[in-house]
Amino acid sequence: MTTHDLKASPVPMILDGDPGHDDAIAWVLAEASRRTDKICDIRAITTVGGNVSLDKTTYNALRICTLLGIKDIPIAKGAEHPLTADLMNAPSVHGESGLDGPALPEPEVTLEDKSAVQLMTEVLKGSEEPVTIVSTGPLTNTAALLLSHPELKEKIGQISLMGGGIGFGNWTPAAEFNILVDPEAADFVFRSGIPIIMSGLDVTERALMYPEDFEEIKKIGNPVSDIVWQWLEFFYKFHCELGYAGAPMHDPCAVMVLLHPEIFTIKDYYVEIETGGEYCRGATIGDVRNVKNMKPNARCVLDLDREQFAKYLIDAVKVYS
Ligand code: BDR
Ligand code: CA
Repeated sequence: MTTHDLKASPVPMILDGDPGHDDAIAWVLAEASRRTDKICDIRAITTVGGNVSLDKTTYNALRICTLLGIKDIPIAKGAEHPLTADLMNAPSVHGESGLDGPALPEPEVTLEDKSAVQLMTEVLKGSEEPVTIVSTGPLTNTAALLLSHPELKEKIGQISLMGGGIGFGNWTPAAEFNILVDPEAADFVFRSGIPIIMSGLDVTERALMYPEDFEEIKKIGNPVSDIVWQWLEFFYKFHCELGYAGAPMHDPCAVMVLLHPEIFTIKDYYVEIETGGEYCRGATIGDVRNVKNMKPNARCVLDLDREQFAKYLIDAVKVYS
């Protein structure tokens, strides 16, 4: 399939995530675009409990925004827990703070006095163009938004999410972490009819940054690159022990696919979320052979040109001074 129809500019967007090293790097990419090619028109940043508790992901979001010099984008705290399940965290991946590694500046930006759903609602109502939600954590906030404001569905142009995988899982053999944390939310979103771009493990585990890429970033020598290479090193250390050859850039794929769709291989499938199951809860089941004869509901990102991906990411870090 062609990907040119994914290319749009500018893209009004809400960044919704649970930072997280790779969420943070996804936001580095989005903010760099906002400052240069202006494809990412970031209208709001919202947080969700996931990698670590909501308080921690929110504190991390404020510290990331401070590091990136983001002062003009409203930030709101979202859902503490999944829609119905108990919250599951991933401190083994991101450390106790959710963003262990280099010291970050203390927040110089503050939270909005409203919830993520309230902020998302305002952004959607106030936008003349459809808004893209870039989701790099559990889909709880997006599902809560759709449940409380179904009339706003039309205002969401698409959801570019990191989650799932057609071939395999990472937290269980069948399920990827973001979907596994809140499968009920994911199920609701995938059934919503809103166009979905799913950057699952199929592509994100190939979106590797190698130690030589960290070195390139280290050489840039600006305040953001000084942190990004250390985030990459921290993330790599964990994954190296699991046998990865580099740091998998899961969440940045959800932004990069909007900026450079041409470097990705994308196939449209009908995808369902397993919410029950003894072994497969949280799995994203892609009907690769169209057995059900259903209209595809997700553009599944399956592969990429890794060299180009690394180049674009390194270039994004250069934008900061
Ligand atoms: C996803 O889980 C989180 O730990 C990462 O931030 C990413 O969003 C990968 O499975
Ligand atoms: Ca994440």
